[in-house]
Amino acid sequence: MNIQEVAKLAKVSVSTVSKIINGKDNDISEPTRKRVLKIVEEQNYIPYAKYRMKEGMANRLVGLVIPGNNSYYGVLIAMIEEALRERGYRLVVYTVSEMDAKVLDEALEQLWKRGVIGVLVNGTLAASHVPENCKAVYFTETEEFDQRQQNTFYFRKYEAGRLAAEALLEAGHRKIGCILEQSEQNILNGIEAVFRERQLPEGDLVSYLGKDREDLWKNGTGFCMTDNVSAMICGSSEITGMVLEYAGKTGIQAPQELSIVCMEEQDILEYMAGGIASVKYPLQQMTASAVHHLLQMITEKKECEIARKFFPVLQKRGSIRKNEEGQRGGKIVVVGSMNIDNVIEGVRIPVNGETHIADNILVMPGGKGGNQAVGVGKLGGRAYMIGRIGKDADGKLLFKGLSDCGVYMDGVEFDDQLSSGQAFVHLDREGENTIVVYRGANGNLDGAQLERHGEVFQNAKYCLISSEISMETIRAAKKHCRKNQTEMILKPSALEEIEEDILEGIDYLVPNEKEMEQICPGNMPLEEKADRLLANGVKNVIVTLGKQGSYLKNKAHSIYFPSAPFTAIDSTGGADSFISAMAFSLSEGNELVYSIIYATYAAGITVTRYGVQEAMPDKKTIGIYIEEMERKYREIKEII
Ligand code: RIB
Repeated sequence: MNIQEVAKLAKVSVSTVSKIINGKDNDISEPTRKRVLKIVEEQNYIPYAKYRMKEGMANRLVGLVIPGNNSYYGVLIAMIEEALRERGYRLVVYTVSEMDAKVLDEALEQLWKRGVIGVLVNGTLAASHVPENCKAVYFTETEEFDQRQQNTFYFRKYEAGRLAAEALLEAGHRKIGCILEQSEQNILNGIEAVFRERQLPEGDLVSYLGKDREDLWKNGTGFCMTDNVSAMICGSSEITGMVLEYAGKTGIQAPQELSIVCMEEQDILEYMAGGIASVKYPLQQMTASAVHHLLQMITEKKECEIARKFFPVLQKRGSIRKNEEGQRGGKIVVVGSMNIDNVIEGVRIPVNGETHIADNILVMPGGKGGNQAVGVGKLGGRAYMIGRIGKDADGKLLFKGLSDCGVYMDGVEFDDQLSSGQAFVHLDREGENTIVVYRGANGNLDGAQLERHGEVFQNAKYCLISSEISMETIRAAKKHCRKNQTEMILKPSALEEIEEDILEGIDYLVPNEKEMEQICPGNMPLEEKADRLLANGVKNVIVTLGKQGSYLKNKAHSIYFPSAPFTAIDSTGGADSFISAMAFSLSEGNELVYSIIYATYAAGITVTRYGVQEAMPDKKTIGIYIEEMERKYREIKEII
């Protein structure tokens, strides 16, 4: 609309309109003045629009319409101002108490009169009257909006809620508290959606939407935190402070006993309780993109219209702890190898110039240490791995495989120089295996790494050591075990010879027949060989005999145990399964004879399937055989 059109509508001359809008209207009758002003208002006529446009370009002013009640108001303004300043523009802020169509139109008009060339609107509500030549871009956090609306940049707090809930559930938390301000219903919707999708009981989420600070402090913290929750989702750093204060007063240690995720990223979180994890909203990216798009529309007269979505990210810090609830038994440290197993199934290993066609090949995670840790983890035990893997895809796969089974990985390091260990496993048609191991990164697991993770040994009941790592590392592990009164279970594999001091003080030595032969060569009965090892300072010798079961020798007993009633198709890792199950059972306080029976069943189940880690039984699977195992235990007890 221009001045000529207003004049035409009002049936007056252009000079009459000009006089009226410039206040020089003494000689104009009152009815004419009113008629002209009514048309000006109805038609939303902005005098000197073109001139203002030019002036705006010269002033390089951009407007921002923002609700005054926005909690991140200050942060947003600072971000937008910076993005504009970098491009040589200045900001004019217009706050509104509540955003509705009328208010927004008024805001745009006012800003336009002040000479802005474009406007950023915090919200998705579209203006119905954008002044001629003025461009508007919308940005906001929103749950839902009309997807047809263009020039809109947005993210969803709903997704932020999902991220927080998923992180805590992945860490094993089941009962989670959540304190938010009433305005943050979107976050709660996201959290509840995750609980619903995982079919978790409603009562496992204890949420409180507080109306103000006092309400949150007086009612919210107590409401959520008395209900046995092991993790909290807090709406802001302020609420996080309240939760920490409440935890301190009630003797709950955070993060050891209470994991926390804050739904707002703030620098201060890094210093609270050793680092509070948070969900960071994509404000910076969103506002920078909105500014960039607006300036493009203005300067390049681009009318490309887009709606772009941004995503919150989880800022990981130490406040998300694995929840040990649901895990049983004492702490078990595993010091050993992690390998990728390259399995070739075929009739036999070729010799002297022969070439064979393989029946099958498989690639799977393995390594004696990794297998044993997974074995403990799957049975519901508390396994802590200390080992070394390459900085490669195999390393990542191994790491993920173990942590997915609930193994604590604080003691695992990625090696800069060597690739992850590889094992080449030949499997014959009877399910028997032979293995060649390339140590790779496992070879760099040394005493210094054990020293760096010395705290992992604290309060450990058992340490599982296997000898695909160096003798020096085994010696270092023994030192930590002695210091912490941790019992040692050694699997002596891949050895050409074993130095005597390695065996001294070992609580449980678990060789197979071949390994027994290497440690104790000579033509004598197994019992006699075991006696020799006892004389060398080993406290219990347990020889795994494959289909024949196992043999235990210690000061009190000399017992042959039958194998479990399963048919083996892949014997690889049977001994790792045996050792991990025996250690788990011992760590639960069971006696050795029962633990060997339990281990025999675990190994028996493992060898009925291909691979090792995949094949190892979990709590439920082994649980099926509990009665049978107890019966066998009673039978053996009657004869010893
Ligand atoms: O005990 C079986 C394991 O020995 C395999 O997984 C292989 O990696 C080797 O370490």
